[in-house]
Order: sequence, then structure tokens, then C-alpha cells
Amino acid sequence: MSTLRFKPSGKVLDVPKGTLLIDAIRSAGLPIASACGDELVCAKCGVRVLEGRVTRESPVERDTKRRNRVPPELRLACALRVHNDLIISADYWGSDS
Ligand code: FES
Repeated sequence: MSTLRFKPSGKVLDVPKGTLLIDAIRSAGLPIASACGDELVCAKCGVRVLEGRVTRESPVERDTKRRNRVPPELRLACALRVHNDLIISADYWGSDS
């Protein structure tokens, strides 16, 4: 299992290793933007990994971010599988979400 912590709400969720981050975010009850059905096309699901080790971007994720002008520091939650403990944030998560 890996432990996800979400900022700024402080929500904590344990997920099996290999869980898709976007699924974990939904399981935590947090909003996550998606306009492509998690198909790695829209780049709306960008989040910040504040702490923790994540896999490198795939060429598809990099291209999708570039095409949609997503800042390089964001990772696409539908592209990222959780393998370690992470601290995650999104610009539109308030302290009550
Ligand atoms: S949900 Fe569309 S790229 Fe992630």
C-alpha cells in the first residue's frame, strides 16, 4: 500500500500500489478535472506532486502537456500510477475539499 496525502485539505488515503492517481483522487472525494474520460488527451487533470517519488513522464504525457500548454511541473493524474507515498495538491482544491 501507499499513503496519499492531499493538500491543503489534509485528507489521507491508503491505496494499493499501482493505483491510478486519478482514481485515488476520486476515491478521496476530491474534485479532479477531466474532459477526455481519462484517456490522456485533455490535460485537464494536472496536479502537483509536492513530495514523493513518481515515475518519469511518458512521451505521451509529455506531448499531451505540451499540446495543452500545461506547466511542466504538473503531472497528469490519469497518467500516473502510485508506487510510493505522495503528497498531492491541485490549484483548485480549497482547504475544505
Ligand atoms: S483526464 Fe484528460 S488527460 Fe487526464
